[in-house]
Amino acid sequence: MIRSVALVLVFGMACSRSGSGTSEFTTQQMWAIGNMQRPKQQGNTVVFQNDRGVARVAFVNENVVRVRYLPNGEKEHLRSFAVVDQKNAPVSPRVTTGSSSTEIQSSALRVIVHHEPFRVEFFDHKGRSLDTDDPSRGVFHVGHQSKVWKRLLPDEHIYGFGEKSGPLDKRGMQLGGASYTMWNSDTPGYDGSTDPLYISVPFFMVMREGRSHGIFLDNTYRTHFDIGKEQPDLLSMSIGGGELDYYFIQGPEPKKVTERYTELTGRMQLPPMWALGFHQCRYSYYPEAKLRAIADNFRKRNIPADTLWLDIHYLQDYKPFTWDTKRFPDPAKLIADLRKQNFRVVSIIDAHPKKEVGYHVYDQGIAGGHFVTNKDGSIYEAPVWPSMAENSPADSVFPDFSSSKTRDWWGSLYKPLLDIGIAGIWNDMNEPAVFNTATGTFALDVQHKNDGRPTDHREIHNVYGMLMTQATHSGLKQLRPEMRPLVLSRASFAGGQRYAAVWPGDNQSSWNALRQSIPMHMGLGLSGFAFVGSDVGGFMGAPTSELFTRWLQSAVFSPFFRAHTTFGTPDQEPWSYGKDHEALNRAAIEMRYRFLPHIYNEMRLASQTGIPALRPLFMEFPLDEQSWRNSELSMFGDSLLLAPVLWPGVNTREVYLPEGTWFDLQSTTTYEGAQTHTLQVTLKSIPIFVREGAFIFTKDQVQFSDALADKALRVDIFPANDSSKEYYEDDALSMAYKAGDYLLRRFSQHRDKEHIDIKIEKIEGEFQPKTRQLILQIHGLQGSPKTVQINGKILDKKNGKSFSVESNGTLTLPLKDSLESKEIKIQL
Ligand code: GLC
Repeated sequence: MIRSVALVLVFGMACSRSGSGTSEFTTQQMWAIGNMQRPKQQGNTVVFQNDRGVARVAFVNENVVRVRYLPNGEKEHLRSFAVVDQKNAPVSPRVTTGSSSTEIQSSALRVIVHHEPFRVEFFDHKGRSLDTDDPSRGVFHVGHQSKVWKRLLPDEHIYGFGEKSGPLDKRGMQLGGASYTMWNSDTPGYDGSTDPLYISVPFFMVMREGRSHGIFLDNTYRTHFDIGKEQPDLLSMSIGGGELDYYFIQGPEPKKVTERYTELTGRMQLPPMWALGFHQCRYSYYPEAKLRAIADNFRKRNIPADTLWLDIHYLQDYKPFTWDTKRFPDPAKLIADLRKQNFRVVSIIDAHPKKEVGYHVYDQGIAGGHFVTNKDGSIYEAPVWPSMAENSPADSVFPDFSSSKTRDWWGSLYKPLLDIGIAGIWNDMNEPAVFNTATGTFALDVQHKNDGRPTDHREIHNVYGMLMTQATHSGLKQLRPEMRPLVLSRASFAGGQRYAAVWPGDNQSSWNALRQSIPMHMGLGLSGFAFVGSDVGGFMGAPTSELFTRWLQSAVFSPFFRAHTTFGTPDQEPWSYGKDHEALNRAAIEMRYRFLPHIYNEMRLASQTGIPALRPLFMEFPLDEQSWRNSELSMFGDSLLLAPVLWPGVNTREVYLPEGTWFDLQSTTTYEGAQTHTLQVTLKSIPIFVREGAFIFTKDQVQFSDALADKALRVDIFPANDSSKEYYEDDALSMAYKAGDYLLRRFSQHRDKEHIDIKIEKIEGEFQPKTRQLILQIHGLQGSPKTVQINGKILDKKNGKSFSVESNGTLTLPLKDSLESKEIKIQL
């Protein structure tokens, strides 16, 4: 009895933190999952049943187990918004049922299900226990809510949950723990303690002694996770409704966990190259003369940039799919002119058409039954930006993105924007955000059609933004099938990486927010959202010149790279902080452009594997204890370690380098790893270290990404006995790569005392890059080599043209780039 009272409190606390109130729990009966009878096997699923509900355990593949618990009276989870169709058929596990437990086993995992009471425990193939339900609690159910408690070991580190503030390791400092709610929320000016934020990803990774597994809770209702905060040795997950449905994902490498999680929920699409360039935004550039002046400034000042963004002031009274023709009298001409200057334009489309008869989106939406309704069937109306318009302010209505018919309709509305050359779409306010209400969002009883399975907002809220981006993404693909779409979204849910890049909303212009952006990007990345980047300089408030420069420098390898600020703040362009800072800011953006081939290559890998380009140290060095809690350093790909300066007024920066030899990216100075180095830094410093054996792909400086194609490809090769790297290219823009129009090559090296052998081999694809040079820069020689051979032919070193060796030991070898394989032998 005492125990069950304690549990009511624990349960109630979790639920009240997630905003549902506790009263429900005192009046409703709470029950434990209880004892189960011997299971039945139905296909690949093992089914347990008692008079309270049904539990099912199934192997999705060798490494992924799905566990479901459906209490009587709850809605079965029949369709997942997050999980995509799996390529491989589910495996049939070996099932052995004894008197008190059932063992379910694949080649990689063993699950033991205890019958009395029902508890699940996961083991790896070596018999190590990876995860288990807490023996005394297990699963409880009250009202519509269910909760499972799991063991949390003192040396387990917890990562992920997508867009969450706080340190990378959610165990916190001194195992203080953390608790997180999944409920998409518009949180302007949030700080390190704000939760929830805009995106919900109920996925986390557990790492212990360098070995990892993951858990994905596939439930779109408000969910809550407690990581050792309630009680240091317990991790709990609770759901606000529906079926308790989670996937256990085996690693043991952390990269494998994310790879398998994204096999389940899908991966980011390969973006066009321009989307990886520099983006300039503000709330808002208007009238059109202002936008033109911004474009002119970039080109006049030789600061590279690809994209300018139109925020809500281009719209007539903030109405999606309109133009304010006073501010922008001829959008088609404006966009065509900017295109001539090699700019692309992205425009914002929010989720809230204005309620206004005669406005085409409202009229069509009413006629087609596309808007969400109240319980009584009337259309739900609420204030968002159109309620703040200068002329005839009014409430908004909201598309029901849970209906595929509505998504198709919404997708088709982009046609006029694409017809005049808009390059990408920015979806905002899609948590969905609503003004002047206590909750900041729809009433919970707002009705959604949900493709024939009507439900209320409690189930759809967290996927509303993702479904909006699905509508946008497929609209763009249908309207312009040959082009890769760029969609940026503020709200999303697990799996939303399939449709849109994301940015973590309205951050502050503060050093804290800059520092916070690093673990947040890594947390999103390892949770599937690999295409991410925060507003450079911060959105709310105004950065000092130093903060703006440091932010820009820290974002040189941010997958999405956009400066943005709110309404009414001072100018926040790279030239807004005086000549000295303009030079520093230019240098940072120039660096981005030189490294675009490398960035593109890593982003393509992310689109293939789900492993984020921007990743925590522990993903590369899982056995290095120093990497487990590091929130300040990150890796870009497998070979660049980023150590941006994140504090004002400093002239040193401490950097921990994991084991191995490292090279300063800019000077190729050598550093030994497994120790912390103190670097001297100036305002110019962008500390980045190259891992031994790395291949780094760059091109000469350009002002916009379309100019890269015919530039020489430079490959810097850093010493290691053996290493290799694949390099990918295509037209950087279209969908032709899907039909084989790409080129994948492998660069590899082998070094010993007497030789350096380098091979370049074609692996796949027929893409023919433009005629250009391939310049190999082979680092780490000691003196001039005796001979250099290419495909068996000795180069004449006397005429000095064929290769050169600098005093720092770098051999430069310019070649004509061609698809033929090359073998370079350097005799030392
Ligand atoms: C929201 C967005 C912000 C945008 C503003 C106006 O606050 O997060 O990026 O500038 O709305 O559209």
